[in-house]
Amino acid sequence: MAHSPWRNATTEVHAGYSPSGDHLPMTVPIYNTAAYEFPDYATAAALFSLKAPGFTYSRTGNPTVAVLEERAAALEGGVGANATATGQAAVALALLALLQGPNHLVASNKLYGGTMDLLTDTFVDFGATVSFVDPEDPANWAAAITPKTRGFLLESVSNPLATLVDLRAITAVAHAAGIPVVVDNTLPTPAAYRPIEFGADIVVHSATKALSGHGSVLGGLVIDAGTFDFSDAVRWPQIAGPKARYGGDTLLGRYGAKAYLMLGRSKFLHDLGPTLSAASASSILTGIETLSLRVAKAQSNVLELAKALEAHPAVARVHHPSIATHQDFALAKEHYPGGTGCIFSFDLKDPAWVPSLVDSLKLFALAANIGDARSLIVHPAAMTHCRLSESQLAAAGISAATLRLSVGLEDSGDLVADLLAGLDAMAPSKGAAATAVRQTVNA
Ligand SMILES: Cc1ncc(COP(=O)(O)O)c(C=O)c1O
Repeated sequence: MAHSPWRNATTEVHAGYSPSGDHLPMTVPIYNTAAYEFPDYATAAALFSLKAPGFTYSRTGNPTVAVLEERAAALEGGVGANATATGQAAVALALLALLQGPNHLVASNKLYGGTMDLLTDTFVDFGATVSFVDPEDPANWAAAITPKTRGFLLESVSNPLATLVDLRAITAVAHAAGIPVVVDNTLPTPAAYRPIEFGADIVVHSATKALSGHGSVLGGLVIDAGTFDFSDAVRWPQIAGPKARYGGDTLLGRYGAKAYLMLGRSKFLHDLGPTLSAASASSILTGIETLSLRVAKAQSNVLELAKALEAHPAVARVHHPSIATHQDFALAKEHYPGGTGCIFSFDLKDPAWVPSLVDSLKLFALAANIGDARSLIVHPAAMTHCRLSESQLAAAGISAATLRLSVGLEDSGDLVADLLAGLDAMAPSKGAAATAVRQTVNA
């Protein structure tokens, strides 16, 4: 495992870059170029045959993007990373490199809706099979393994209900069966939770969310711990078997612990082209510089909001592990001491209240994103998870009365007042008078 010599807040600012070249620019330059001139023919031939490291064409690598890849790998404790145009591409590439042919994936039944679309529709069209399990009991994962299983996929904190996992127990089940575990760590980010420390083999991110942090750019990352044993050429022919594409060599023989990432870069980024631009990488790098600060502020806002919602008579249930009655309360304290990120959900007592509550809010924008500096709200059943069947929604714990919040960086008192004013219109709380007084004072 590659370790940054620093704690995360320092890594966020420094990893992967120190000023160099003629002008010593303090920030990472944006290499706005599609191609790179080769000094001579022999260098070009060596680079194109992947025998020498370097940049040939920005679809498979760019110096600005490379700094982001190194910084993300350092933050998660991986050996390297591949950046992608979106988080959706990161999830797809991470899995494509494992599921060659009619192979099988075991996946959590609590996943972002776009990932569910990928697994239940596109991957099925290409011959893969997927078994969905309730991720919270490791025995469910063990029971779903078949001889064709080539990966486990789960979210470290699930979208939208913020359910948690005992990742150490799940990775133990997977590794005993020779299966790598892919963890989508978008919600907590490495500032709060580092899946590789709990046994994850591959970490994916939508960098669109809290990593970039301002809702202004799309991006994704695949980070490899570099520790999974891909040496069985029968199970992993794409990594351990000889390939004409690599002059008859095996990726494992050529690249060792970076073989999986080279498969992603030299085959899938090259052949499919979901590449991150240098300008987007620059935005994400700027966002990452303040990641720890933003995650801590959003987390403290989340705790205030969860407490206020829990006490409100219009709310049936708050789905956040800081609530003492939540099923993951103990797990959160033990495995997620840094918090779980800026997302949580709550159920209204009556689903008919959803439209008027959403329309009444002044600070929570109705927008399908998370991890923004601004607070956002969605109705998953009608929006982000609208293509899930009734039974898939039920398995994911999402009802028609569930609303998801992505909590931003505003003042917590303002956020609580905005939500409580909307809820008081449905079912007045004891705090309604206080809210009215505050509004009068502010008027
Ligand atoms: C947990 C999670 N993973 C992946 C994605 C996909 O990322 P993107 O929208 O950047 O493609 C999302 C998007 O909401 C997400 O919430």
